[in-house]
Amino acid sequence: MTIITSRTKQNGTVRINQEQCTACGLCVKVCKDFSLVQTNGRIEINPTPVFGCYGCGQCMAICPTGAITVSGREISPEDLQALPPDSERASFGQLTNLYWGRRSIRDFKDQEIDDETLQKILDAAALSPMGLPPSDVHVAVFRNRETVREFSFDVMNLYQKSRWLFSLPWVWIWRIFGKETYEMMTGFVRPLVDCFSNSLKMRQNHLLYDAPLALYFMASPYSDPADPVIPATYAMLAAESLGLGTCMIGSVHPFIQHGAKKLKEKWNLLSKSPSGIIVIFGYPKYKFQKSLKRTFAQVFVHQ
Ligand SMILES: Cc1cc2nc3c(=O)[nH]c(=O)nc-3n(C[C@H](O)[C@H](O)[C@H](O)COP(=O)(O)O)c2cc1C
Repeated sequence: MTIITSRTKQNGTVRINQEQCTACGLCVKVCKDFSLVQTNGRIEINPTPVFGCYGCGQCMAICPTGAITVSGREISPEDLQALPPDSERASFGQLTNLYWGRRSIRDFKDQEIDDETLQKILDAAALSPMGLPPSDVHVAVFRNRETVREFSFDVMNLYQKSRWLFSLPWVWIWRIFGKETYEMMTGFVRPLVDCFSNSLKMRQNHLLYDAPLALYFMASPYSDPADPVIPATYAMLAAESLGLGTCMIGSVHPFIQHGAKKLKEKWNLLSKSPSGIIVIFGYPKYKFQKSLKRTFAQVFVHQ
């Protein structure tokens, strides 16, 4: 069996160098596909795994002697990297300082983001966990202010065209989809559509705020729907550590998810994508003076 993604239809191939293997069994413990078994003091490939190796690479990353390699399925032994020294890992305090210092930024200096910084953000984001390896998240990069602006106006044009869907007789139809949908449509989506229509008239970009960079993370139909949000969050925090300001933009994907064929063709976006999120980046124009404490809706502790 193979877990198919948009990138691969093959299993990973696990090889064990029996001369190097000390049969410590760590690989067997971390492999949750049960691709490996320990029999008679040897590590062997299990002929009846759950799915077949899906290429997480954990067996080769944990092996103390380098006896295991995984290849195929977009993974190879070259992907192994030395661990950063403990002294260079961010402490809890450093990490939470980054969280405390973050605010959604929607006003940017007139300063572009260089290629090296963009690459650092993409590389850091690609390190995020994924529903199933290899990551099935596709990224559209909107480079420079003019490109971000052109894309924004294309999307706002679509909003403008669908304005009738939120006009009075139609808005009642949203009730069929439940009270919450109706409330969201009337309280949030309808004013949003009006706002974008006005923005369009005034040639102002209230969608992506004329940021100098936007990254659009999209899930393939094979991905976990949560997949794009995780690299987007990593990208956001990596950018914060590089002195950039960021903001997540959720108001594009649900709107263009079904349809918007021409726009997707023009911008090379996935024609089918069940979930997606945009992050905008730029050097902040204004400096916030304080941080803000936040809370969850509810935290239930079961014990
Ligand atoms: C999933 C998600 C979607 C968002 N979508 C938008 C958006 O479309 N437009 C926008 O201006 N801000 C958007 N935001 C930013 C939030 O509005 C912002 O996080 C909130 O106002 C709190 O501000 P803070 O990030 O400074 O704490 C989004 C944030 C998240 C997490």
